[in-house]
Amino acid sequence: MVSKNVQDLMEKMTIQEKIGQLIQLSADFFQGDNVAITGPLKEAHLGEAALYSAGSVLGISGAQTVRKVQKNYLKHSRLGIPLLFMADVVHGYKTIFPIPLALGASFDPQVMKTASATAAKESAAGGVHVTFAPMVDLVRDPRWGRVMESTGEDPYLNSVMAKAAVTGFQGTLPLDQNHIAACVKHFAAYGAPEAGREYNTVDISEWRFREQYLPAYAAAIEAQALLVMTSFNTLFGVPATVNQHLMRDILRDELQFHGVLISDWDAIGEIIHHGVAGDLQHAADLALKAGVDIDMMSFAYAKYLAKAASLDPQIEQLINESAQRILILKEQLGLFTDPYRGLSTERETEATLTTENLDAAQAAAEQSMVLLKNSHHTLPLNTATAISLVGPVADTGDILGSWSWQGDPDQTETIADALAKQFSNFTVMPGTQYHHVQFSKLNDAVNASRQQETIVAVLGLPASESGEATSMTDITLPAEQLTLLRGLAQLNKPLVTIVITGRPLDLTEVDALSDAVLLAWFPGSRGGAAIANVLSGRVDPSGRLPMTFPRNIGQVPIYYNAYNTGRPISGTPADDENKYLSKYIDAANSPLYPFGFGLSYGDFTITDWTLSQHNVTPDQPLTIQATIHNSADHAGTTVVQLYTHQQVGETVQPVKQLQAFKKVSLGADQTQTITLTVPYDQLSTIHSDLHRSTDQGDYTVMLGFDSTCTASQPFTVAHQ
Ligand code: NOJ
Repeated sequence: MVSKNVQDLMEKMTIQEKIGQLIQLSADFFQGDNVAITGPLKEAHLGEAALYSAGSVLGISGAQTVRKVQKNYLKHSRLGIPLLFMADVVHGYKTIFPIPLALGASFDPQVMKTASATAAKESAAGGVHVTFAPMVDLVRDPRWGRVMESTGEDPYLNSVMAKAAVTGFQGTLPLDQNHIAACVKHFAAYGAPEAGREYNTVDISEWRFREQYLPAYAAAIEAQALLVMTSFNTLFGVPATVNQHLMRDILRDELQFHGVLISDWDAIGEIIHHGVAGDLQHAADLALKAGVDIDMMSFAYAKYLAKAASLDPQIEQLINESAQRILILKEQLGLFTDPYRGLSTERETEATLTTENLDAAQAAAEQSMVLLKNSHHTLPLNTATAISLVGPVADTGDILGSWSWQGDPDQTETIADALAKQFSNFTVMPGTQYHHVQFSKLNDAVNASRQQETIVAVLGLPASESGEATSMTDITLPAEQLTLLRGLAQLNKPLVTIVITGRPLDLTEVDALSDAVLLAWFPGSRGGAAIANVLSGRVDPSGRLPMTFPRNIGQVPIYYNAYNTGRPISGTPADDENKYLSKYIDAANSPLYPFGFGLSYGDFTITDWTLSQHNVTPDQPLTIQATIHNSADHAGTTVVQLYTHQQVGETVQPVKQLQAFKKVSLGADQTQTITLTVPYDQLSTIHSDLHRSTDQGDYTVMLGFDSTCTASQPFTVAHQ
């Protein structure tokens, strides 16, 4: 339904004004006392008129600044159509939550929802209307730095998290002033660049795309995300941004997405490099025809649409459709009623960095940390233990992670400072920087550690080494840090390694050298306090891996829901009779740490589990009751995971597919019975005709605490 207001505006607007709505410019065009800044305009070969009619801007925030820019802009807007402010509010605004991959590791959609709702509340108070989030690209290759922005390798987990993020950012529609519009990205399959190299070609079959990559985008759209962003990559041989099959057939027709489609930064211009458009005019034409409403920073629409519209009524019609969608979005944001959305510096101060927000960020960090190894109960540590704290990340605020532009590492409590609040006896000596070492300092750190009872090494990578444009071919820790760790390991003292990273790393040697390994990701504003709580045992680290951790780079891409192949390996790989099976001759097929893995301070078992019935139909979902017991003498949290496998399908089936999970917290020696349900439709798969349906036949269901679980029971599926 188009409102009277939008209809009236559409009638009054000139074609130039409508095209203006389709243009997004960056912040530098709008700074200063006037709207127009001539420098960037000149560079882009744009006239002032183009700027005054530009419908949206990215990267401006702050109550005062946004007010000022909006006021100046409205002075120039003939019809009083407000400017739309968009920004990348990814895992927090001022209060920084753990990175999205860590939020995925929480295996708790409520954690993602709270993180997104908090980010929305703070950034809305800072004048942001739309966030370029969530990023729901399925990822399997840790060489690609943007895995940190995703929730991992699993279609189901990604879908659950996508929905939670959209509802967190947007609340229940219609949007209120504490929520912002979500822009799902990057449509589509941006997470599958060949060889993990940023911006590289993506080429996966449409069958696989629909089976594994599409579900999370679909879930976000079903959750009513108001925008979608195109991706830089190609898909099915055509760049996504101008791919009519992807954008028209799949996004608009099948997924019924009626919101605003925005290009990624200069993605329309890049069509020329892709070799699918001869020039920018051609690129503009292709993008508009594919249904891209907003051109982010290629200037193609600004320069060429007016002329194209005057020659071709179809182009004019498409411009009308896009302009109308953008006006509807502005209306959904309430901008025609209040172009400032209740902005004030008082509200901004009250809403940001509150104790409540920071506590929520800390809880999220605690729930996303993954305990990868804990020999002989090395952790938790007694708070009186004499600790030697070493490593480049021990005493820095660089624990926020990429895409946290409003977060301030200098104002962030370091791990050392946070530990000081709980541990009475420790020394800090980094020993090495991330990539540079002075051997005298390294020796000092090792020698100092000799005097202490336990060593805690905080190793990892700086935030600048994950996120956009940070692909890498070597995913081991830098040599300097491994040298330090080897030196420490020789002291034969309990050695705890905390890993700060935005991506899965090859931790094979770290695992071998350490007694305990805690994966803390980039834990955000209160990451230090969360780590201190985990080390002291005040909280159980309850994250589970949302991506498989390989033994080495050569195994990549490695993921749990793989296909069996015609020659699956079982038995001993080195045996002669196993020579021609699917395997490596220099490494196991299995990863170092599997998807879904993570230890607890509790000691959990599934003592009993039953299916309500062994036949699943459209009216009768797969329902499992399981009894979980914590036999430890203290509380703990686990994640019960349910996987299924279809025995025989028309297409190949993954060896296992996550279908449900539940986080369970139990006190010492406590027992709880839980129910997990998988609806009939969720058992559906994509067939070779590219349609999704649920097959009748034999299946197995597996239950456990990670993706290697083997306890299984059979069930059948019937159409009724
Ligand atoms: C490029 C990135 O790919 C995208 O994720 C981001 O939202 C835009 N730049 C805007 O910053």
